[in-house]
Amino acid sequence: MKKIIIANWKCNPTTSKEAQKMISFLKQGLKKVKKAEVVICPPFVYLASSKFQESRVKLGSQDCFWEEKGAFTGEISAKMLKDLGVKYVILGHSERRYIFGETSESVAKKVKAVLNLSLTPIVCIGETLQDRKETKTFQVIEAQLKQSLQGIAKNQINKVILAYEPVWAIGTGNNCSSDEALTVSLFLRKLILNIAGRKAVQGLRILYGGSVSVDNAVEYLQNDSINGLLVGGASLDSKEFISIVKSVNGF
Ligand code: PGA
Repeated sequence: MKKIIIANWKCNPTTSKEAQKMISFLKQGLKKVKKAEVVICPPFVYLASSKFQESRVKLGSQDCFWEEKGAFTGEISAKMLKDLGVKYVILGHSERRYIFGETSESVAKKVKAVLNLSLTPIVCIGETLQDRKETKTFQVIEAQLKQSLQGIAKNQINKVILAYEPVWAIGTGNNCSSDEALTVSLFLRKLILNIAGRKAVQGLRILYGGSVSVDNAVEYLQNDSINGLLVGGASLDSKEFISIVKSVNGF
């Protein structure tokens, strides 16, 4: 299964000129990438001007709304994103959950809307530092997973990409050890097996995210159970991001 490397630019950069510069740099640097699938998730406002010709580089968004259209001030629907050429949608990122109060119930509605349009949802789950201290990691992850996939048909579940992103590792430079990430990925596979059966787990892709850098990317990528990376801070340095993508060549 091809590894997938996703850039989450979050609320960066602050001008379209800078965004264009990053996109041009990536276009150049990712030209010869054959082994990895790459997804770039800029802020909504830069999506329209961020087209990639290279078929292995796709556009993603950082969120979406579950209704197609209507009186929902400030929202961007999955349908609008599809129209712009977006193929992947990050959902339930911890910053949305903890800064903006997003619940797993609303994540599930978004997952459904995204799948209905044949786009790929990337569902983020992960424990906080407090959960970890209280040894509740597996409990929290299980609840988030089940609630975030509530009501999704069993035969649709392997179309969802799961991203294990421990909250304490995001933006802190304190990345989760590859052994721990592997353990959680195996736990998630077991949960999916129980929820949706063997077929669902066979095609399932699980990513790791949280302080991924060019120095630690390989540790995760060498595990068969980790199908790729969700990269935040390091993706803002296009040169570093390209190096992370290129490190997939070894696998
Ligand atoms: P980080 O962010 O790489 O800056 O830790 C990852 C993420 O939030 O997806």
